[in-house]
This record gives sequence, C-alpha cells and structure tokens, in this order.
Amino acid sequence: MKLLWAVSALLLSCWRTNASTAPNIITVPSVVSNETSAALTCNLTDNNLQIKGSHWTHNGKIIEGTESTDSAAWILYSLDKITPQTSGLYECVFLTDPEVKKTIEVKTLPHVSAYKHSEHGNENDKGAMSCVSHGYPLPTDWIWFKVEDDDSVPQLISNGTSDRFEIKSTPNKTTLTINELSIEKDIGYYRCSGTNELGTHSDKIHLRVRSRLAALWPFLGIVAEVIILVTIIFIYEKRRKPDEVNDDDDSGSAPLKSNSTSNHKDKNVRQRNSN
Ligand SMILES: *[C@@H]1O[C@H](CO)[C@@H](O)[C@H](O)[C@H]1NC(C)=O
Ligand SMILES: *[C@@H]1O[C@H](CO)[C@@H](O)[C@H](O)[C@H]1NC(C)=O
Ligand SMILES: *[C@@H]1O[C@H](CO)[C@@H](O)[C@H](O)[C@H]1NC(C)=O
Repeated sequence: MKLLWAVSALLLSCWRTNASTAPNIITVPSVVSNETSAALTCNLTDNNLQIKGSHWTHNGKIIEGTESTDSAAWILYSLDKITPQTSGLYECVFLTDPEVKKTIEVKTLPHVSAYKHSEHGNENDKGAMSCVSHGYPLPTDWIWFKVEDDDSVPQLISNGTSDRFEIKSTPNKTTLTINELSIEKDIGYYRCSGTNELGTHSDKIHLRVRSRLAALWPFLGIVAEVIILVTIIFIYEKRRKPDEVNDDDDSGSAPLKSNSTSNHKDKNVRQRNSN
C-alpha cells in the first residue's frame, strides 16, 4: 500500500512538472482547409521562457526569410497562395531552451496528374499507366475509369473487373496494369481519380495499342531494303559481266590508253628539263 502511494505521488509530481513546463503555443488558425491564402500565427503564452528567436518551417524545412532573432512571442507567416505545392505541415519554432514548436496543417484538394498523358503498348504485351499526386493530405482513395469518349458514362475499373486488370496504389501514386493488351478492348481514354478529405481531382491518359505486325514493320522495312539492294547489285553485276568479257577481247585499246598517258607524262618531264 505504501509503495502504491509512493508511485502515485511520483506520477502526480511528474504530471505536475510536465504541466507547468509544457509550453503553450496558441495557433490561429489551427488548421487551414481549402483556402486560397492564410495568415498563420503562433502565440507563445508561457512567459517564463526566454525567447532568443524564432522561425517557420514547411514540411520540416526552414522557410527562408522567416528566421528572426528577436524575442517576440507572437509570430506571423503570410501564406499568399495556397497550392498543392505550398500545402502541408507548417511549424512555428521558438528558440527557447529547450526549443518549442507547434504545427499548423494547411490542406488543399489533391492535385492528380498522369505520369504520361499518352501511353502505348503492343498487342498481347503488358501495358501500364500511372498517376501521381501532390499536396496535403495525399489521396486516401484512388479510382480508375475507362472513358470511351466525352459523352459516354465512365466505366469503373477495379482489380475484380477482369483478371487482366491490376491496380496498385500508394497515397502518392497509383498504377493500372493491363495484361495481354487487346486492340478491340483496351484502346481509349483512362481516368485516374484521387480523393482526399477535401475532394477529388483526376487526370486523363490516352492508351494506344499497336498490332504485333505494326511492331514488326520497321524490321520488315529494313529486310525489304536489304533484299532490294542485294537484288540490284546482283542484276548490275550480271549485266556487267559481258562488258568485262568485251574489255578483255579489246586488248588493243587499253594499252593504247596507257601509252598515251605515259607519253603525256614524258612530255611534261621533257618540258621541265628544257626549262
Ligand atoms: C497571446 O496570448 C496571451 C495570453 O493568452 C494574450 O494575452 C495576448 O494578447 C496574445 N497575443 C496576441 C498578439 O494575440
Ligand atoms: C489489386 O491486386 C494486387 C495484386 O493482387 C494488389 O497488390 C493490390 O493491392 C490490389 N489493389 C486493390 C486496389 O485492391
Ligand atoms: C511517395 O511516398 C513515399 C513514402 O510515403 C516517399 O518515400 C516517396 O518519396 C513519395 N514519392 C513522391 C514522388 O513524392
């Protein structure tokens, strides 16, 4: 019994000291949701702490230009434009001993964008399309649709739609893999849609599927070119053969030619000598 009292007394004193030293930072607002701009403020209300300065951080990185060495207990950071890039976790940090800080969440709609807006694959191969998301908070749900055209009703695609479809998602990325691509079934537009607590945003990808034969065309082209070239050379050689035979027969004309050139050379030599 005595031990129990001692333990509870100890716990109580711990709680008390914690309570008295725990800094109280009042954040206004404490959460920013779906706004275009905001003024973030922190008020350190514990007067016993000596403040040697302060700064703000965004997702753990110090925001340039917010570092101050004055002892202000109330600090402000103006967030002029809230975008997926500027959303996230903001923290006001007071340089006391020890350092104290508090977080303000700045939330926006997710921003979803296709990794590539146009993808292509070969018939019977595997095709993959991906979308990524930026902003805070990241999507908790990802959905894929197939859209025939702008007027038609999008068809939901899930792992269960067909055993050819496989969807893998993390908060910042989703990938739809289609096994054994089919020209009849798979060509078209796909939409990836990410949803967080504030809403949904999506992007569209165009998938093209080439026939196996189409993939072979460049290769067939080269083969055809080579065949044509070889044929031309072959025919040319065949045609030249009789000429060569003629050349051999005309043995008189060739030596004449070489004679004339050598004569010419001799003339030059003679001319030079005479000079
Ligand atoms: C900060 O909080 C204290 C204590 O609650 C209050 O007296 C003071 O007015 C606040 N300062 C500002 C600038 O709001
Ligand atoms: C779909 O199936 C794959 C493989 O079985 C699995 O890794 C993935 O988590 C599933 N996706 C969804 C959204 O259920
Ligand atoms: C996606 O999230 C993971 C872990 O949550 C992180 O390691 C990775 O860098 C993120 N990727 C992008 C592109 O933001």
